[in-house]
Amino acid sequence: MTSHGSPIDTNCMTLTRFILQEQRRHPEATGELTMLIMGIQTAVKSISNAVRKAGIASLFGMAGDVNVQGEEVKKLDVLANDLFINMLSSSFTTCLMVSEENKTVIEVEKDHQGKYIVCFDPLDGSSNIDCLVSIGSIFAIYRKTTDSEPNVNDALQPGNKIVAAGYALYGSATMMVISTGNGVNGFMLDPSIGEFVLTDPNMRIKEKGKIYSLNEGYANLWDPAVAEYVQGKKAKKAGARYIGSMVADVHRTIKYGGIFMYPATTDSPKGKLRLLYECNPMSFVVEQAGGKATTGKMPILDIIPTDIHQRTPVFLGSSGDVQEIIDLYQKHHL
Ligand code: AHM
Ligand code: MG
Repeated sequence: MTSHGSPIDTNCMTLTRFILQEQRRHPEATGELTMLIMGIQTAVKSISNAVRKAGIASLFGMAGDVNVQGEEVKKLDVLANDLFINMLSSSFTTCLMVSEENKTVIEVEKDHQGKYIVCFDPLDGSSNIDCLVSIGSIFAIYRKTTDSEPNVNDALQPGNKIVAAGYALYGSATMMVISTGNGVNGFMLDPSIGEFVLTDPNMRIKEKGKIYSLNEGYANLWDPAVAEYVQGKKAKKAGARYIGSMVADVHRTIKYGGIFMYPATTDSPKGKLRLLYECNPMSFVVEQAGGKATTGKMPILDIIPTDIHQRTPVFLGSSGDVQEIIDLYQKHHL
């Protein structure tokens, strides 16, 4: 609602306000999840700011470089990881974290612990950082279900136990897309007030789309189901789009419809993308928007993880498109 014809919305729905409102629907809620998501928001705002001035501040390239002042510069991915870890640890909501950047689980110090577990990829699409193509952050939040000291087993929960998940896209604008299990909502960062503002309420994926998205450079390494599927897309003159940043490719898939794929190859029988902090959160969001996510043989969200960094093949997007690849896996008895 704008006030007296002014372009300033005096009653805008910010992400924090939205999450608070969601919290009210659960009378038993303590506000811990709201605080956790505020921690993630702060990390995302800082990462966005760093991404926007990366060139000027010499944040590109490999960590360990020395800047003109002779100080070691923290590169974007290291910086993003530190921000996620610090903002989550200091929110008193999280006991355990899994990050793409850390080999083992990260336990929050005892007197800062809360009841949630967060798995995240602080800056995904690293090959796109230095050339200014969109990159993103991905996160999934779980509840701790046992009374034991936090340990790796707490993080090995299937995606269907996710409490909330989402991503931040550092594209031509910065956007956060989030689901707490009640649909999907998108919030654009308004840099003038430093707040995420609801711009894409109740995001839904089309039943069928016209775009397919995968790295065709690996075509000789695909299984017959994927080969036949892509052949079928070409026969129908479908559009091909591939950014090489999962967040950007999945965001486009949600907005425009179609399918995103990172299949197994003969070189990498489990594909490339990681289950806990890439495939699970993105699959959760896609399914909450009415889409589907599969390995080809089973729903991504039903996989019981055995390793925090395990990989899985993934096909996600418009439910009609994803069903076609499931049917081909059955046809080829794969
Ligand atoms: P990263 O975690 O090292 O950034 O790699 C993940 C990225 C995804 O964002 C993207 O979907 C994929 O790698 C692209 O891989 P490829 O270059 O093999 O197509
Ligand atoms: Mg990644």
